[in-house]
Amino acid sequence: MRTISIVNHKGGCGKTVTAINLSACLAERRKKVLLVDLDPQGHSSLGLNVKPEETEKNMYHVLSETHWDVAMKDVIIEVNKYLHLAPSGIILSAVEQELAGQPGREDRLLNALAEMPGKYHYIIVDCPPSLGLLTFNALRACREVIVPLETSFFALHGLGKLSETIKLMEDRFGQKKYVQALTTIYDRRTRIAKEVFEELRKHFGKQLFKTIVNINVRLKEATGFGQPICQYDRHSSGYRDYTALAKEVSSMTKARAYRVRSQSAAAASPGSQTVKNGVRFHIHAPKAKTVQIVGDFNNWKLSKGATLDTDGQGSWSKVLHLKPGTYQYRFVVDGQWRDDPNNPNKVKSSFGGMNSIIEYGKQKETQ
Ligand SMILES: Nc1ncnc2c1ncn2[C@@H]1O[C@H](COP(=O)(O)OP(=O)(O)OP(=O)(O)O)[C@@H](O)[C@H]1O
Ligand SMILES: [Mg+2]
Repeated sequence: MRTISIVNHKGGCGKTVTAINLSACLAERRKKVLLVDLDPQGHSSLGLNVKPEETEKNMYHVLSETHWDVAMKDVIIEVNKYLHLAPSGIILSAVEQELAGQPGREDRLLNALAEMPGKYHYIIVDCPPSLGLLTFNALRACREVIVPLETSFFALHGLGKLSETIKLMEDRFGQKKYVQALTTIYDRRTRIAKEVFEELRKHFGKQLFKTIVNINVRLKEATGFGQPICQYDRHSSGYRDYTALAKEVSSMTKARAYRVRSQSAAAASPGSQTVKNGVRFHIHAPKAKTVQIVGDFNNWKLSKGATLDTDGQGSWSKVLHLKPGTYQYRFVVDGQWRDDPNNPNKVKSSFGGMNSIIEYGKQKETQ
């Protein structure tokens, strides 16, 4: 599964148009895509004909502390077989204040997405035009970042702040991000566009997509009609450009997968942790064929529901919805029972070996 956030704190540079149409064009290639609208303006939702005011639950309810029982699966809308949407709503703007000062507040989206590994080929997150908590959540949850840049005089202005934020995230959480810039709203008839594009090429080098998204009124119209360009006008230059982008993004899979695998095991293995409505059990076991979880909560019994999901790169995880309490557990890796290598809290088992211990409850939550 690839996770891509569309980020630029500058407004109106094509984040939403890119989020919608890249998602739709990947879905057209029969990839399962989830578009997460993380902008309280709800433009991605509107662009897919979902009216935020008509949705009962949205990303606010997923991220908010007060709606502890709402998970991603409760808000997802099926746009079509391949394209799903997690909508936004204006109330999402309340999240910043609501979570202010709470530990682990940047991990909300990461943990919410961890509930559905393997369900999607791509998760694409549309961000608001700010570098606040919502954008931090997107950066934290996604391995890849696309930065759309409108070819105007100020395209590069303020980008230092974004690079700084990404670097800070990388250092703090020990995980490299793959950043790629995208030329958008390019008007080939103007000299300024050509000059700015040259600037971008010099500045980003290989980190600039070869695909250029040209200015095209059909893209603007399509969003207004609540349709992605592949539905609205397949003869437009907008359709051609976003199809090319989807192709370019897809072709990066192999190189990315290789680089993700070469990350340090520590970075890939954050360990088990409490999440909003339970515990996310996690272990890094690259050679394992199956991993299960047993503990007090399932009477130490192996069952289908105890099987962890893998991201295909050695990382195994599962979120169990538990009542507050203290639990002992172990992983069963290819039939071998073992304690959690990333959890120092252990107790001797009366059957030999060690059991790991995790405490889940309101006061003890990590976020
Ligand atoms: N390639 C394009 N050709 C023509 N118009 C475009 C193109 N890309 C985006 N637009 C238009 O430019 C405006 C801004 O685009 P968009 O909403 O995607 O930007 P944004 O970065 O998401 O904005 P915000 O920061 O407010 O979320 C919209 O009216 C959109 O329809
Ligand atoms: Mg937008």
